[in-house]
Amino acid sequence: EEARREELRKVTELTARLYHYLLMETDHGKEARRYLEERGITRETIKEFQLGYAPDSFHFLRSFLRRRNIDEELGEEAGLLARRNSSRGRASCFDRFRDRVMFPIHDTQGRVIGFGGRVLGDGQPKYLNSPETPLFHKGKFLFNLHRARKAVRKEGTAILFEGYMDVISAWQAGVRTGLANLGTSLTESQARVIRRNAETTILCYDSDQAGQHAAERAAGLIREQGGVVKVARMPQGMDPDDYIRRRGAEAFNADVIAQADPYMSFKLEALKESFDLKDEEGRMRYLTRAIEMITELPRAIERDHYLRRLAEEFQLSLDALKQEQRRIAVKK
Ligand code: CTP
Ligand code: MN
Ligand code: MN
Ligand code: MN
Ligand code: MN
Repeated sequence: EEARREELRKVTELTARLYHYLLMETDHGKEARRYLEERGITRETIKEFQLGYAPDSFHFLRSFLRRRNIDEELGEEAGLLARRNSSRGRASCFDRFRDRVMFPIHDTQGRVIGFGGRVLGDGQPKYLNSPETPLFHKGKFLFNLHRARKAVRKEGTAILFEGYMDVISAWQAGVRTGLANLGTSLTESQARVIRRNAETTILCYDSDQAGQHAAERAAGLIREQGGVVKVARMPQGMDPDDYIRRRGAEAFNADVIAQADPYMSFKLEALKESFDLKDEEGRMRYLTRAIEMITELPRAIERDHYLRRLAEEFQLSLDALKQEQRRIAVKK
């Protein structure tokens, strides 16, 4: 109930402050500070996002909470402590997050409800996230929404990333409308939240197979909510954070975000990669698939628009494409 949730919030808030302090001010945080610095994250950005460090210990947080007379059960329910049963059948609690850079996750009101924690090197799992708790639901919240909401509403546009670091790098590059889902694929509930705040969503996912797949899925969900989707593209194998670090903020804004393609253009361009367009036969097969895709669009004006574009691009009569469309419709 609400009173309990309030108590849990106090524990997660307190823990966020502890981790942040450890990162900023103590010897424990030295390596993590260097790690973030090497990734190009400034001290100012660390403060803005209240990033932290969970020390390499099984009982640092446990002892800290104990000294403050906070019940272990509360720490456990908040997902910060984990419980294991010893061989003698006695249960004991230990810190869930150890030796990780901590990314606090906030609710819409800006209260900390959970964490993502990254290993400093190549360990596994790369990210460890808070488990589902009475506060934290990874299918419901979006990383950075409380900070970005005002700008998103004002611009009518949200930029959706795959990772925390993408949002943070983009923020540092001046992008104030970045959001990310929380380590799972986008849910319908998150799509609804995005749609409630933004008319248009720019998907800025990693430029690998997994990222492109995830972008397709997310696009479907946001379009189902009536949102307009654009897709930003990056050179193969990069994610937005890589891109910003290698090419800089200006290039990211001008060549990636500003160049985002309308969803259907993105789909049609992506489709081209499976065909040899220099070959006549290949061109015909591409056209057939492209017309199929266009035919599946829910709105007549969209179908008309893209069919015309295709006709222009391939120097064919619109009439021929429409006949082909009817043929496809009959076949189905
Ligand atoms: N993720 C996760 N658990 C993992 C790997 C990834 O929850 N084991 C989530 C995280 O939220 C992460 C996002 O998926 O931010 C995207 O994954 P990935 O692209 O692999 O990570 P990056 O955000 O690029 O992280 P980094 O740049 O720190 O390597
Ligand atoms: Mn839940
Ligand atoms: Mn990825
Ligand atoms: Mn990535
Ligand atoms: Mn990355």
